[in-house]
Amino acid sequence: MCGIVGILGTEPVATRLVDALKRLEYRGYDSAGVATLEAGRLDRRRAEGKLQNLEARLSDAPLQGHTGIGHTRWATHGAPTETNAHPHMTEQVSVVHNGIIENFRELREELTGEGAAFATETDTEVIAHLITRELKAGHDPVRAVFNTLRRLEGAFALAIIFGGYDDLMIAARQGSPLAIGFGEGEMYLGSDAIALAPFTDTISYLEDGDWAVITRDGLAVRNREGKAVERPVQKSVASALLVDKGNHRHFMAKEIHEQPEVISHTLANYVDFAAGRVQLPDLPFDFADLPRLTISACGTAAYAGLVAKYWFERYARLHVEIDIASEFRYREAPLEPGGLALFVSQSGETADTLAALRYCREQEQHTVSIVNVRESTIARESHAMLPTLAGPEIGVASTKAFTCQLTVLACLAIAAGKARGHVSESQEAELIAALTEVPRHISSILRDEARYEVLAHPLAKARDVLYLGRGISFPLALEGALKLKEISYIHAEGYAAGELKHGPIALIDETVPVIVIAPRDNLFDKTVSNMQEVAARDGRIVLVTDAHEGEAGCPVMDTIRVPTAHAFTNPLIYAVPVQLIAYHTAVLMGTDVDQPRNLAKSVTVE
Ligand code: F6R
Repeated sequence: MCGIVGILGTEPVATRLVDALKRLEYRGYDSAGVATLEAGRLDRRRAEGKLQNLEARLSDAPLQGHTGIGHTRWATHGAPTETNAHPHMTEQVSVVHNGIIENFRELREELTGEGAAFATETDTEVIAHLITRELKAGHDPVRAVFNTLRRLEGAFALAIIFGGYDDLMIAARQGSPLAIGFGEGEMYLGSDAIALAPFTDTISYLEDGDWAVITRDGLAVRNREGKAVERPVQKSVASALLVDKGNHRHFMAKEIHEQPEVISHTLANYVDFAAGRVQLPDLPFDFADLPRLTISACGTAAYAGLVAKYWFERYARLHVEIDIASEFRYREAPLEPGGLALFVSQSGETADTLAALRYCREQEQHTVSIVNVRESTIARESHAMLPTLAGPEIGVASTKAFTCQLTVLACLAIAAGKARGHVSESQEAELIAALTEVPRHISSILRDEARYEVLAHPLAKARDVLYLGRGISFPLALEGALKLKEISYIHAEGYAAGELKHGPIALIDETVPVIVIAPRDNLFDKTVSNMQEVAARDGRIVLVTDAHEGEAGCPVMDTIRVPTAHAFTNPLIYAVPVQLIAYHTAVLMGTDVDQPRNLAKSVTVE
């Protein structure tokens, strides 16, 4: 999604704006731009594609202003061209925007009717023209923005600077997050604290509906009604070193390799290892009384939720409903008051997941979120928040956040099982011991990484790839297919192994690799039968398993052997081969692994 930065500085800001934008690259974008104010005059540079194109523009024609805004655009309205890139400008005002202005069509017609000339296809440009109209009517910038905000519908974040006003920037937040940073005689603005980490760790977050008038001396925040409000100033934990890939070629590789460590951190947050007990923060409900559990999330986070459904049903005998948030939010599902609703989100800003959360609050559910960004909107709006301790995830494809989500969900399922009388103390200790071994098992998988480079060769030639899994391995098949398609652009689908003969088997021939996730659990023999059906049709099987040589009983193209672990923790362990298969195939194909085309890291629009 789009990234916003702004600086009221004491020296030229264009280079620093681009540096801050680099720290937002992980969100996904397809064009970028900066505008600064020099001797009272607004000027901008924009470029299609990556930030180095913008840097080239700036080196040909530098901007010297000490006041500036910058933007990485993830196209929604209009193609990712230079013309449509932000900042959008008139002589009086320059605007960057994240989100969608839903009523932009009627506003554009209204403004065009009054003689405004539009240069772009974007929804954002209406904001520049609306503010300009207000300024021309004699209002000062603060009143002009207030009047404009009242006309805008949708979810958005804005940063605005004004011709002739060197010590002024106005920011507004309605739905999309914004962080304001405090420096020595300087002020900063960013879509998140990560962007601002090299400048300051002193941050204030705008609340939904807030808008802030920022000068070098500080800021004045007002709410939707224009009333002055105070927002706490806090120390951010975002680190200035975040954009470092270490020795890895991609952030995704670094994040895959961080998993043993971040799973350990996350586990340590929820487990008393010495006592062999799960320890959760105080939750405003008792698992024993819950009529049911509703889980809602998007993409990979939804697959973490699907794994959890198997855990909660098996270990806590709790009825679980799970749906992707974009469907759940409009289904008008009847929910008995007093139920528990869980929301899983790395960013904590995903628009559909947030809407599902708000629906569940209206339906009198206890809401708990599992998020990686503690200050996020989903975290703040839920009754309780359980953080994953994955650290910032920069690669667009989720890896370490997924396994940390699974770690938290596993602890929650154990706690639920215990409270509901289905998990004894000794079982709890056994399950925790199993979780404690996960980082070690993952490290041993990572030591064997070279073999995924070999496997990537046949996979990279495939047009279609199928993933099969049964029981708790089914969500892993879905995750494997998602990971492969999003970063390698090879068409891939995940199926429940038992569903194969109800349709997908028609696709099988000698050109289609079939990746089978088959731990040697109670369903292994069933999955083997499905594999044999594939083999009988010349399908090329890649078996991911801890079973011994020959146990599959049919010819396979390749076997990825993983350590034998407790069945409870298999989803965490099998997640890693699935990530490595996708990663190495994509690397071989030469795609942009960390920022795959068309994708955004934080999906703040529906
Ligand atoms: C896939 C991926 C996405 C996200 C989804 C939800 O690799 O990363 O499918 O899982 O967009 O995002 P969050 O977790 O931020 O709500």
